[in-house]
Amino acid sequence: MQVNLTEAPAEVQQAKMRLGIVGNAPALIAAVSRAIQVSPIDLSVLITGESGTGKEFFPKIIHSFSSRKHNKYIAVNCGAIPEGTIDSELFGHEKGAFTGAVSSRKGYFEEADGGTIFLDEVAELPLTTQARLLRVLESGEFIKVGSSTVQKTNIRIVAATNVNMLKAVEDGRFREDLYYRLSTVLISIPPLRDRGNDIVLLARKFASDFAEKYRTTAISLDESARRLLMQYRWPGNVRQLKNIIEQISLFEAGNEIDDAVLESYIPHNATVYTPTVTAEPSHNYSQEREILFNMIFRMQREIDNLRSAIDNLSSPNGTTAVEIHTSPVSDDISRSLVRYTPAIQEIHQPENAVDITADSHISSMTLEDTERETIKQSLERNGGRRKATAKELNISERTLYRKIKEYGLE
Ligand SMILES: Nc1ncnc2c1ncn2[C@@H]1O[C@H](COP(=O)(O)OP(=O)(O)OP(=O)(O)O)[C@@H](O)[C@H]1O
Ligand SMILES: [Mg+2]
Repeated sequence: MQVNLTEAPAEVQQAKMRLGIVGNAPALIAAVSRAIQVSPIDLSVLITGESGTGKEFFPKIIHSFSSRKHNKYIAVNCGAIPEGTIDSELFGHEKGAFTGAVSSRKGYFEEADGGTIFLDEVAELPLTTQARLLRVLESGEFIKVGSSTVQKTNIRIVAATNVNMLKAVEDGRFREDLYYRLSTVLISIPPLRDRGNDIVLLARKFASDFAEKYRTTAISLDESARRLLMQYRWPGNVRQLKNIIEQISLFEAGNEIDDAVLESYIPHNATVYTPTVTAEPSHNYSQEREILFNMIFRMQREIDNLRSAIDNLSSPNGTTAVEIHTSPVSDDISRSLVRYTPAIQEIHQPENAVDITADSHISSMTLEDTERETIKQSLERNGGRRKATAKELNISERTLYRKIKEYGLE
């Protein structure tokens, strides 16, 4: 389909302001513009782009600029719903359709009648669900699980993915007919590394947001740091930039950051990252690698900190309390702060502080042990809440469920 890209800049500005989208890169503006232009036409839209590029803004733009804006908008993360319940979640079920179905239930396709459904991580949909979805797209018809009655619904579908859908089709994991139905209009979100000065604009915005959140003075970036920001590959795109600026904002509050400081927060072997647009929708190795890398870098920093703490302990002047900051995985500062009081030669930890002694033995573990340990600790920190744990580890809930099973962490 041909879409004219001469959308009035006023509407693009309005969408950016409403959602807090930062950036002026032509490819980003073209994507926002395209979303606005297709919004009044009831076509399915597929949003593609690497992980962390900001795909989740686009279905919201499409809904809010469409005539459906006063009706429901439901976002469904297809990767987070267990395979056994996804049909019932999406299409509803009748009483007695399966063990535990004590009453009938409406699915999202019935709930959102007249509105928009955003199917995030659409490549994760099981093949049986793909067949049901195709039917809705073709005829607006669906059948609740355990029912024989055909129902009608009027839904606009916007889907998003960070995987290579053509490869998924080629491998038989995604129906070709459904792929073409979903991607009547394709909107591609550019990777951060291709957005030039937007990287600096985003870094400034996040620095000011986090200064406000943590009630500190915002960090600033000198020229060498800005140059490094522009040169780095950003495999995790805007999400990674945001995480890094959050860490720097916590530990370097108010400082002017140069390239050396910035670099100490950036993974060094970044060159081993591959873009997240991979051929592997059901097993996202790059996300799992990222957990391991995050953890290894955190450990490295903790070991360095420990070393300098020990040096302080043994030095004759080492009598003042030293605060050791470990690199946090999320925004919970209290658990990443360990206070050493050399005078009494003992380590006091806040209740939920990272157990450095426990973490340090990880260096003699296998990678699998390390991954298991990271997941276990994150689950503990989050009181067993899987959603929060998946968010902290930057993996999908489905990957987390699989890992919990695999490592017997239930
Ligand atoms: N242009 C932008 N301006 C401001 N914030 C942004 C921008 N792009 C992305 N972000 C922020 O970056 C984070 C990641 O964005 P988002 O969750 O939309 O990524 P995604 O493309 O859906 O990634 P994934 O494929 O891993 O789900 C969010 O916190 C989002 O608010
Ligand atoms: Mg997303």
